[in-house]
Amino acid sequence: MTTSFAWPSPHPPERVGRPSRKAATAALKAHVAVLGGEPLRRAVTEALHEAGNLGGQERRFVAFATRELSRHMRLLDFAARQLGQAPGKSLLKEDQALVRYALWRRLLCGGDWARVGPEVRLPGPLRPRSIKDVALERLVTEPLAAPPPQDSTETALAIRHSFPSWLMERLSAEVAPTELGALLESLNREPAVQLRVRPPRTPASVHAVLVEEGVASHEVEGVASALVVDDPGLRVFETRPMREGALQVQDVGSQLIVALCGRPAELTGRTAADVCAGAGGKALALADAVGNKGRVLAGDTSRRRLQEARERARQLGLRQVSFPSPLALETADVVLVDAPCSGTGSLAREPDTKWRLTAARVSELARTQRELLESTAEALRPGAVLVYATCSVLREENEGVVEDFLARHAEFHREDASGWVEPRFVRGGDLRVWPHHSEGGGFYAARLRRR
Ligand SMILES: C[S@@+](CC[C@H](N)C(=O)[O-])C[C@H]1O[C@@H](n2cnc3c(N)ncnc32)[C@H](O)[C@@H]1O
Repeated sequence: MTTSFAWPSPHPPERVGRPSRKAATAALKAHVAVLGGEPLRRAVTEALHEAGNLGGQERRFVAFATRELSRHMRLLDFAARQLGQAPGKSLLKEDQALVRYALWRRLLCGGDWARVGPEVRLPGPLRPRSIKDVALERLVTEPLAAPPPQDSTETALAIRHSFPSWLMERLSAEVAPTELGALLESLNREPAVQLRVRPPRTPASVHAVLVEEGVASHEVEGVASALVVDDPGLRVFETRPMREGALQVQDVGSQLIVALCGRPAELTGRTAADVCAGAGGKALALADAVGNKGRVLAGDTSRRRLQEARERARQLGLRQVSFPSPLALETADVVLVDAPCSGTGSLAREPDTKWRLTAARVSELARTQRELLESTAEALRPGAVLVYATCSVLREENEGVVEDFLARHAEFHREDASGWVEPRFVRGGDLRVWPHHSEGGGFYAARLRRR
């Protein structure tokens, strides 16, 4: 049975604005760097630096356009083929970038040649280049027929939402067929700024201050610490609560992982350890939860990230966070393993990941996750809680790792996550945050306790 799909509807005009040629050039350069293997965030930072004095709106455009070109790469190449501009291997990376950009502006931004032409045509934003202006013009102006039918729904969805086929297959095993399109769409949606409101402030009190300062935001049902910014700009970073250190950028799902570590009353005065603390997002939230009579022990294999965590803790005056080596896990009441993972739940923020990942890499990550869980668990004292978490939506890195661990460790048992988070965030007893069901990315966490 064949299945068809429709070309996407363009973003609302205010999302895209009217980029200057300079901003378009920076986005194109960043995309070329991503094609050359550079991580997207770094590619954007470097392109912005090279571009020099761009205004705030233009800088946001560069970051957005670069993410969009990675997000919709398969769809854009498919459309190019429809218009006789096959993306073939022989095409220069710079040509590929121009083709994708022109088609992105047409299909996802509703741009016409009068608008797009000045952004891409010669004397051109990119060198080297072999594609002619007339070919780019054709991509934007020639009528585009409806996409031809595909031989399966999965193929149609993989093209429409631009996912590699192997990942599409994995994702289709995670949710009901009726939810698959919504899941893929949510993984391509530009994420809003999500904030953790630090105690003693509450989301309601901060929301009221933000209203006074003209920044729209909303609370998230069932997530006691979260506030999501509705304002598309970055004005929230200039507001009083932000300047006073009352707000931290943190995904709603990450806040739920911290909630799974314990209720405030359970954690106050306790010792928590964060084995993979990275730049400290969850370690700082744990520090607020244990309070100044508790302790947070933070470790990571990356010295650079730990240094960042140390600096953030210092700035917030959170003296209960320390970075001992080794971590003395036997003294901890709660240990968080926020494991390195595929990041498939965070593709909305880091869309280049989907083109770098392979099935073999996911299996390699699952091996690392099993080893990390194993070596951490060994050190825990009886009665201690072990929370294993990822920002992956793939079973292999989530339930797969935890079930394998529990099968070999009768001294640990799973505690039902619904004791700590709302049942709508729970699947099979574990925390499962789905990006198509709630705000933010996809997350997983299991709460285990040593007998
Ligand atoms: C998902 S990130 C942690 C994010 C962090 N907890 C936060 O909330 O911002 C995973 C971290 O694991 C670290 N890592 C990788 N292998 C590790 C290992 N064997 N032991 C400890 N940390 C490791 C990485 O450097 C990375 O910072």
